[in-house]
Amino acid sequence: MERLAQVRNDLRAEPKRWLVTGSAGFIGSHLVQTLLRLDQEVVGLDSFATGHRHNIEEVLDSVPSEQQARHRFIEGDIRDLEACRQACDGVDYVLHQAALGSVPRSLTDPIGTNGANIDGFLNMLVAAKDAGVKRFVYAASSSTYGDHPGLPKVEEVIGKPLSPYAVTKYVNELYADVFARCYGFQSVGLRYFNIFGARQDPDGAYAAVVPKWVRALLLNEEVWINGDGETSRDFCYIENAVQANLLAATSGSEGANQVYNVAVSDRATLNQLFGLLRDILAERFPHVAQAQASYRDFRAGDVRHSQADIGKARRLLGYAPSHRLEAGLREAMDWYVQRFGNRMSGR
Ligand SMILES: NC(=O)c1ccc[n+]([C@@H]2O[C@H](COP(=O)([O-])OP(=O)(O)OC[C@H]3O[C@@H](n4cnc5c(N)ncnc54)[C@H](O)[C@@H]3O)[C@@H](O)[C@H]2O)c1
Repeated sequence: MERLAQVRNDLRAEPKRWLVTGSAGFIGSHLVQTLLRLDQEVVGLDSFATGHRHNIEEVLDSVPSEQQARHRFIEGDIRDLEACRQACDGVDYVLHQAALGSVPRSLTDPIGTNGANIDGFLNMLVAAKDAGVKRFVYAASSSTYGDHPGLPKVEEVIGKPLSPYAVTKYVNELYADVFARCYGFQSVGLRYFNIFGARQDPDGAYAAVVPKWVRALLLNEEVWINGDGETSRDFCYIENAVQANLLAATSGSEGANQVYNVAVSDRATLNQLFGLLRDILAERFPHVAQAQASYRDFRAGDVRHSQADIGKARRLLGYAPSHRLEAGLREAMDWYVQRFGNRMSGR
C-alpha cells in the first residue's frame, strides 16, 4: 500500500492530537480540514494577522458535527510564548504554518516579518519541545535557494537569500537543526514551492499570483506580469502540500531532522500560467478569452527560475504528488468562481 493510504488508515484507527498554527490562513485551513476528516483532534492557533475567520468557518461547515466537535480554536499570537505553550499542551504533532508570507511584504516591513517568522518560530519550537511534542513540522520555503542558479533545486545546495523573508525561513531551518542537536527534538522542514488552491487570499497588496490573476480575469481587471513573463515557478497544488505534512509528521526517525522540497518538479513560466488560466476560465466565461496581460518591471527579491527535485521527499517520506498544475487549477477554480460570483453578475 502506498504510504499515504497507510498513514490515513493508521490515523483513523488511532487518532492523534494536532496543533495547526496559522489555521485561519490558506495552507493551515486545508490542514485542519484534512485532519478533521480523518477524525483527528485539532487545535488551531491564529492571530488573524493575514488569515480570516471565514476560512475556519468554511472548513467547519464542510465536515459533520462530530468532526467539528474535535476542533478547538485559540486566537493568539506566536510572538507570545504563553499562547504557544497553551496551544502545545497535550499535542502529539505540530504543523507550524503561522508566519508573515510574501517577499515584497518583507522588503517593506522586515521587522514585522522577523517578529512573526523568527521570534514567533522560536517560541513555537521552545513550547513544542517543552510540551514533549513528538514531531514539529514547519513551513520552510523555496526562497531559501536564493541566488543559487542550479536547477532543479536539491535540498543540500542553497545560495544567498534575496529578501528578508528568505532570511527568516532559512533561520527557521537553522534553529530546527540546532534543536535536534542540542535537545534531540524531532522536526521536519517543508520547503514549499508556490503552493496554490482554494482559500488562498486573492485580495490585498501581497496576494500570490494565481489568486490575484484569477480574480483579475474574472472581474475583467488588468493582469500585470512582473518582468518579461519568462520567470518560471514549480507551482504546487495544496493537496500535495497537505500530503507532505501528513507524511512528514508520521515518518520514522530516518525521515526526521531534514528539510524537503514540496513541489511537483515541473516548471511553468508566468506567460504559460497566464495562458492556462485564461483558457480554463474562458471555457465557462467567454469574455475571458480576449484578456491580454500587461508587462511591467521585474520585482525586487524575486528568484528568476524555480524548479524542485522532489527525489528526497519521495525516498524518505513516500511523497507522490497527486496533482500537476492544470489539474490543481481546475480543481481550485470552483472556489474562486463562487467567491467572485456576485461581483460578476450582470455579465
Ligand atoms: N503559499 C505559499 O506558496 C508558500 C510558499 C512558501 C512558504 N509558505 C509558508 O507557508 C506558511 C503558510 O502560508 P499561507 O500561504 O497559508 O499564508 P497565509 O497568510 O494564508 O497563512 C498564514 C497564517 O499565519 C497567521 N499568522 C501570521 N502571523 C501570526 C502570528 N504572529 N501569530 C499567529 N498567527 C499568525 C496569519 O493570520 C495566517 O492565517 C507560511 O509560513 C508561509 O511562509 C507558503
